Amino acid sequence: MNIIHKKSWSLPESSATPEDVFWNRRRFLTGMAGGGLALGAALSSRPSFAETDPSAHLYPVDRNPAYELDRPLTDEGIASTYNNFYEFGSHKQIAKAAQKLQIRPWTVAIDGLVDKPQTLDIDDILAKMPLEERLYRHRCVEAWSMAVPWSGFPLAELVKLASPTADAKYIRFETFKNPEVASGQRQSWYPWPYVEGLTLAEATNELAFMATGIYGKPLAKQFGAPIRLVVPWKYGFKSIKSIVKITFTDQRPVSFWEEIQGSEYGFWANVNPSVPHPRWPQASERLLGTDERRNTLLYNGYEAQVAHLYKGMTGERLFM
Ligand code: MTE
Repeated sequence: MNIIHKKSWSLPESSATPEDVFWNRRRFLTGMAGGGLALGAALSSRPSFAETDPSAHLYPVDRNPAYELDRPLTDEGIASTYNNFYEFGSHKQIAKAAQKLQIRPWTVAIDGLVDKPQTLDIDDILAKMPLEERLYRHRCVEAWSMAVPWSGFPLAELVKLASPTADAKYIRFETFKNPEVASGQRQSWYPWPYVEGLTLAEATNELAFMATGIYGKPLAKQFGAPIRLVVPWKYGFKSIKSIVKITFTDQRPVSFWEEIQGSEYGFWANVNPSVPHPRWPQASERLLGTDERRNTLLYNGYEAQVAHLYKGMTGERLFM
């Protein structure tokens, strides 16, 4: 069992910010989306760095029609300017600061319990992998959600390439660490680098996705370029950004948030409306960029694909 730290500085926005301020901030975003104002239009245009990404010619990719949404896509300008990426600040307006991240050269090391540890260049990964687009819901533990078109490939393909040994039970993912470009990483009280983990069964589930693009273009840096995880049935903090290392292990990884506040952010983090966060309800969510609140769905609506992964697990804190 992990040691529980209780530190007020580590809280996410919905708890660290008084609730009225929190929701007013949301209403500001809502107003931009609903009004169709010049500001909204300006936000919708993509910053020019996307054009210079060496993988830009690969996008858009064909959409996989198997993944349908029950809600409209979130406006690109809104999703691109309301991000959690603590490496660049503990607030949502990190898009500008994130442009400092250099995404070439970029390598992903694969190590641990695999037949052949290797370090892969991101452009080799992109060339090898079957890229497709998927429309997924994304539910943040802070009770907001978005719906976006990710481009990328199934994590199961990368697992196949890595060829884990029979002892491998978990995958540990690690984000880059470079305090010179990521000012948040100069805050040494955070346990950098950002770490997340999945079981091997979760990682090879059809929904687990490695995103390399969004909105028909390479990932903008604030989304976690050049490669991030997307696990849409779990709270958003599991979807680790800007990955540099993937380790196959027989030990359950301790994630960044679990290390900071294990009583509130656990390993499983499956979306469940009937299990409140210790400090706020999870029954409903605000759709980013709209006035709408919707009831949150078990496993974020992906129960058919993932419920079997957790059958018979008792004594586990599945939703924390
Ligand atoms: N990955 C890293 N490396 N650093 C982070 O701060 N934040 C997480 C997750 N991945 C985070 C991260 C959280 S809390 C959420 S909700 C999502 O990224 C946000 O993804 P988005 O900015 O694409 O909406």
